[in-house]
Amino acid sequence: MSNLTNKVAVVTGGNSGIGYATAKELASKGAQVVITGRNAAAVSKAAEELGVTGIVSDQAKLDQIDNLVTEVKDQFGKVDILFLNAGVALFSSVATATEEHYDTIMNLNVKGVYFTVQKFLPIINDGGSIIFNTSVNAALGVPDSSVYAASKAALLSLNKVLASELASRKIRVNAISPGPVETPLYGKLGLSEEEVSGFGSLLGKKILLNRFAKSEEIANAVRFLASDDASFITGTELTVDGGLTVNAVIY
Ligand SMILES: NC(=O)c1ccc[n+]([C@@H]2O[C@H](COP(=O)([O-])OP(=O)(O)OC[C@H]3O[C@@H](n4cnc5c(N)ncnc54)[C@H](OP(=O)(O)O)[C@@H]3O)[C@@H](O)[C@H]2O)c1
Repeated sequence: MSNLTNKVAVVTGGNSGIGYATAKELASKGAQVVITGRNAAAVSKAAEELGVTGIVSDQAKLDQIDNLVTEVKDQFGKVDILFLNAGVALFSSVATATEEHYDTIMNLNVKGVYFTVQKFLPIINDGGSIIFNTSVNAALGVPDSSVYAASKAALLSLNKVLASELASRKIRVNAISPGPVETPLYGKLGLSEEEVSGFGSLLGKKILLNRFAKSEEIANAVRFLASDDASFITGTELTVDGGLTVNAVIY
């Protein structure tokens, strides 16, 4: 099942959470994996633990994306799987959002992702697989998530357009939309511990399966989309949310 031997996979933001679990899963299926992140110590620790290659690269800085592509090309030649996972979730009401809040999210979650795809394209093998990590947030009206939600909605648009543009090269492009996943991300939202736990218990009740996902459950879905098991799937959004977005019960 899902043999990825001889495939080269790049997982952006692979030193933590969903990216870490996905790097582990892809490597376990035989892929040669590269992970990225900004924090050099975290990248090298994770790379060592996972037995993969770690490259420090800030996705919000175009020159660092150029360096990443050059390093991957020098070490591996080509790429088969590109998982655009690195992203930030920051919350603010529209009334108080600053330009810095907007730029931080958009520069990383949209601009950085867009140019990562563009800059990797010359070294992605025909028949390769590109996967965006979006979020169910893109489709929900969660208060205070306007910029984050819009950033993920932008990726869903890119998903469809790029699936069309890259079909001539047999490159499949898909999006994964996780619901809430147990990762360190919740400590980085810019909310107090009390707010995070209130948010968590409210969301927990809305999720049909009554719990957050584990990173490994998102990783399994990414591995499926990355592999030949998904050979006729392109331009789609795979929602992995334990039923959150189909729950008709209003609390
Ligand atoms: N957790 C959830 O409930 C959930 C739900 C839906 C979607 N997602 C999405 O899943 C993705 C991963 O989130 P996570 O929950 O796994 O969070 P996480 O544990 O905080 O991981 C985020 C990863 O992104 C990297 N990163 C952050 N800024 C970066 C930058 N400028 N350049 C390169 N790498 C950067 C981080 O490494 P460094 O800090 O070293 O840079 C880290 O490896 C995000 O796109 C998030 O929006 C998460």
